[in-house]
Amino acid sequence: MAVKQVKGSVFGGARKMSVKGVGGMAMASPGMKKVVTAIESLRREVALLRTLRHKHIVAYLGYEATDTSTNIFLEYVAGGSIASVLSRTGPFDENLIPALTAQILLGLEYLHNRGVIHRDIKAANILLDFTGVAKISDFGVSKNINPSRRVSHRTSQRHSKAFSAVTTSSAAMSKADQRMSMRGTVSWMAPEVVKSERFGTGYAANVDVWSLACVVLEMYTGGEKPWNELRDDFQVLYKLSQNAAPPIPEDLNICEDGRKFLQKCFTVDPTARPSASDLLTLDPFVCDVDPYGFDFQNWYNAALARMPPSSEEEEESEFDDDDDEDDDGSGSEDDDEDDEKD
Ligand SMILES: Nc1ncnc2c1ncn2[C@@H]1O[C@H](COP(=O)(O)OP(=O)(O)O)[C@@H](O)[C@H]1O
Ligand SMILES: [Mg+2]
Repeated sequence: MAVKQVKGSVFGGARKMSVKGVGGMAMASPGMKKVVTAIESLRREVALLRTLRHKHIVAYLGYEATDTSTNIFLEYVAGGSIASVLSRTGPFDENLIPALTAQILLGLEYLHNRGVIHRDIKAANILLDFTGVAKISDFGVSKNINPSRRVSHRTSQRHSKAFSAVTTSSAAMSKADQRMSMRGTVSWMAPEVVKSERFGTGYAANVDVWSLACVVLEMYTGGEKPWNELRDDFQVLYKLSQNAAPPIPEDLNICEDGRKFLQKCFTVDPTARPSASDLLTLDPFVCDVDPYGFDFQNWYNAALARMPPSSEEEEESEFDDDDDEDDDGSGSEDDDEDDEKD
């Protein structure tokens, strides 16, 4: 049996660390293939994570493989995922959402400039610390389409309106890569991801921009997953094959800039959809916002106080590890064939 878990633990008395691990003996058993696949996925995650260092990417601390388990040690992010925070607080504040969106975009811009497509952006894979800093995590199905080339990237401090030079990598990242197959979690997927395998048309880094818009919807709705009204993934796949985007509820309490931002990110034609850098530079929903200007702690405490207690929440402390969390109810597609071909 494959077990993938995250445990908060205290090392050296003070430093908090999170362990993401796969346990299980890879012996001849019905679960063996799953264990081997999970270990390989974790190893790929390590290979990628160790090359990344950014304020909005969860920090990699180390890796351990024993006979019985494989673990990644990650920086411990005390708030858990945005999905778990949403389940405790309800919809996020209208000023918090653009700030977090700008932070996630800074993380995506960094990844994309390095040739990395995350491919599974959703609220359950973005962590939040208690100062309100967002960290992109779970690189289990990510793809580095440019592994041999290191390119310059803009730092998270940059917040100017001027376009900076397009790097070699970001140019490559805007072109559909035909080797790409379907990865991620269906409800957060862009239409070209769904079509890529069948038509061999591939996709580029701005599939993450589509998924980010789904996260923005989650933050506004208080954690409803995109396509909430549909019965199952097959219905979502059908909608996506018809080039539809997740509906934005008419009565949603969202500003005009927010609505336009979502519409822009949900542009079906990937060549017309903006990149993370385009949005940070030009989109009024995020370009002028101070990503760190929101008093998260104050808001969080007030939001908790407002929420009616439920038996589920009472069991969960803020410092829980969220073991085995699958807030969205749908796991990632994790067939890794295209990565094996790399
Ligand atoms: N570094 C971390 N600090 C705190 N919680 C974490 C950390 N990494 C993951 N988690 C929690 O564990 C959950 C699952 O982790 P994730 O990396 O997404 O694994 P999976 O591949 O099982 O989806 C997350 O949604 C989050 O709640
Ligand atoms: Mg995850």
